[in-house]
Amino acid sequence: MNAFEKPTNPSHWSNHYDVERFEKSGHEAVGILTDYLQTSMDSLRDFVLPLHDPNERLAMWKSEMNRGPDGSGDLLRGDLLQRVLDRSNHLHDPRYAGHQVAVPLPELAWLTAATALLNNGMAIDEMGPASSPMEEAVMRSVAQFMGMGDNASGILCHGGTLANLTALLAARQFQSTGDEWRDGTADNFAVLVSEQAHYCVDRAVRVMGWGEQGTVHVNTDAQNCIRPEALEVAFVEAERKGLKVLCVVGSSCTTSSGAFDDLNVLADFAEAKGLWFHVDGAHGAAQIFSKRHRSPLEGMHRADSVAMDFHKMLGVPALCTGLFYRRSEDAYAAFSQRAEYLYEHDVQDEWWNLSKRTFECTKRMLSVAIFGIWEQHGPNLWESLVDELVGNAKVFAANVSKRDGWELFASPESNIVCFRSTRWDNARLRAQMVEKGPHYIVKTEMRGETWLRCTFQNPYTDESVSSSILTRLEELGTEWLQE
Ligand SMILES: Cc1ncc(COP(=O)(O)O)c(C=O)c1O
Repeated sequence: MNAFEKPTNPSHWSNHYDVERFEKSGHEAVGILTDYLQTSMDSLRDFVLPLHDPNERLAMWKSEMNRGPDGSGDLLRGDLLQRVLDRSNHLHDPRYAGHQVAVPLPELAWLTAATALLNNGMAIDEMGPASSPMEEAVMRSVAQFMGMGDNASGILCHGGTLANLTALLAARQFQSTGDEWRDGTADNFAVLVSEQAHYCVDRAVRVMGWGEQGTVHVNTDAQNCIRPEALEVAFVEAERKGLKVLCVVGSSCTTSSGAFDDLNVLADFAEAKGLWFHVDGAHGAAQIFSKRHRSPLEGMHRADSVAMDFHKMLGVPALCTGLFYRRSEDAYAAFSQRAEYLYEHDVQDEWWNLSKRTFECTKRMLSVAIFGIWEQHGPNLWESLVDELVGNAKVFAANVSKRDGWELFASPESNIVCFRSTRWDNARLRAQMVEKGPHYIVKTEMRGETWLRCTFQNPYTDESVSSSILTRLEELGTEWLQE
């Protein structure tokens, strides 16, 4: 066969473009997913999280993968969808109160399926003729709703980690006297951030080559919020070490315990020192939609940039993060990249070529879900969702405080509650809950001590469900005393 001849392989792929087959498997999938949803929402499983030893799970999947085709040629192999559903963590079960990931609004699964089928790559306008202008429109509206001003806008990216890195890249380019993007970084730059901040801020700093010293941790109070007076102390100490501080990052809120830094204090400090002010609102910036719960975000509108995950409190499937800039043109500072094969000319501020502002080249059509929510409800759906989630956390916290043998870390301002038993070993309690179920809760370490942690992500985790968390933990504690 010469190099230009087409090989005659059996066409394994072509059946999978069969339109009738697509329709049939779609109908089946709708039935299976509907059953999954009902079973989860009715808490009909023994466990929210079916967790066995990781190596056992790996062995099971490997042996299934290696048993060979079943002859149907079906990519879902009849029960693949069911096996994935059965063996995953079930967020739609109201007994889920674990990590901070949205319990997605179920209809968004269909929009997400549609965008997976379309697979428009989004890097440039031609690869997102619907979803690029949708993104620009909805991000501008949300940025303005957040009070960031008429010139504010935002872009969507795959996660808060990437959004925080992107914001810091923009801060670096904007604040430095040279062209860091072109020439690389010679200065010892540094960022001031709470010692309780999410690790991704430190990771971004290290990715930018500023090393361990580039993250200057600011001391926090008993509630895990930055102490205002500690800002100046950290700044002076950093300068003394020869570091050039270019940014201060506020946590809204911290991941572990849901503590909000005072953003007006941070904004004043940034203004006085001429620093970029970024808010890591991956988790809590969503509270801006709630009149009742937005007060911890006072001052957020003064930030140069804000990261907010739609996939945490706002019911949108992961990953979907908004990175908002008060001055929309600053978004172009993060990446001053030439890409001849993509862009026709060098003009920086082409909003329609989204990859000029994002780390990603290809990205999912993230705007469609958010656009759908905003078009139908404006901020109202998110307001009611945030009210429910934070309300459920407050009810649970009140219950913890009333019940003997339990201690609350702090009164919650978000949907995160840290608490602990004063009778039993908390790490063991949580391990027993994971092993024996049925609820799913997590734990954290603060100042060397273990705290149990619930994030109220599911709006159906009402008072009766959340009080059964405490009752179950008490049962587990009592059981092992009797062992
Ligand atoms: C405060 C904060 N920042 C950043 C992140 C990272 O966000 P993502 O998981 O979307 O990358 C998290 C995740 O929990 C967070 O709570």
